[in-house]
Amino acid sequence: MTVPQISLNNGVSVPQVGLGVFQVPDDSTQVTVEKALELGYRHVDTAAGYYNEAGVGAAVRASGLPREELFVTTKLRNGDQGYESALRAFEDSRRALGLDVVDLYLIHWPVPSKDLYVETWRAFEKLYAEGAVRAIGVSNFLPDHLDRLLAESEVVPAVNQIEIHPTYRQPATVESGLRHGIVPEAYSPLGRGQDLEAAAVTAVATELGITPAQVVLRWHVQHGAIVIPKSVNPERMATNIDLFSFDLSDDHMAQIDALHRDDARIASDPATAAFTQFRS
Ligand code: A2P
Repeated sequence: MTVPQISLNNGVSVPQVGLGVFQVPDDSTQVTVEKALELGYRHVDTAAGYYNEAGVGAAVRASGLPREELFVTTKLRNGDQGYESALRAFEDSRRALGLDVVDLYLIHWPVPSKDLYVETWRAFEKLYAEGAVRAIGVSNFLPDHLDRLLAESEVVPAVNQIEIHPTYRQPATVESGLRHGIVPEAYSPLGRGQDLEAAAVTAVATELGITPAQVVLRWHVQHGAIVIPKSVNPERMATNIDLFSFDLSDDHMAQIDALHRDDARIASDPATAAFTQFRS
């Protein structure tokens, strides 16, 4: 299965579909990621705050795949924001992953109450300038956080990874990034499974003879988002990447777009989230 690549604003290419490993336990991450790589995944999304970077790195090494064929994203924990602490935390992530170069490094949450994300971004710019990371970006940034970062920094983030799924599309945040060439990256793209039961989704699935997850993931792909569905089940992993032999019509897209509700957010509110992500 070959997945198309999306070109980021610095020319780096990323496979449009990747495997998310949020909440995959450390001790089963290696086997999960190895299976995904066997099935054709070439993009894995982890985070320091998921405590499974070591399993991702072990799977990458065990796969024997050439490093340049793989795209690995990790993220800075909230409690590590700040210039020096971000540089130290990056070294910890790089060591845990066992990689010389990380493909994409993200500020996991803006944590506006700490007011450190601009300073943290300076450290990201340094890592980027040194070639330790191929691209830098943000996650959970709302339009006002993006505006401030753009006003006070040099490097424009390559992506903004945010919660996007049919019932919670965040159109204003997606648009505010796209205006600056920031690619939307959808986390919880299936609404953690909940959006698969929506009538509009199951109707399109029946009509096209595909699964509800394929409908939702194809909807993301046609909107131009990078998408990182999480699954530990090999059959679901395989169908989640099998998205390129069918199309949704404009009508299908509109029916799924119409599922949006402003109150359907599943994850924390980026305007207020301030947890440290340190494991106790
Ligand atoms: P599992 O890991 O057992 O497959 P999201 O990516 O939006 O966070 O959704 C992840 C959730 O959706 C997980 O509970 C995952 O369970 C489930 N899931 C992933 N892929 C599919 C699929 N193709 N069909 C049904 N459920 C899925």
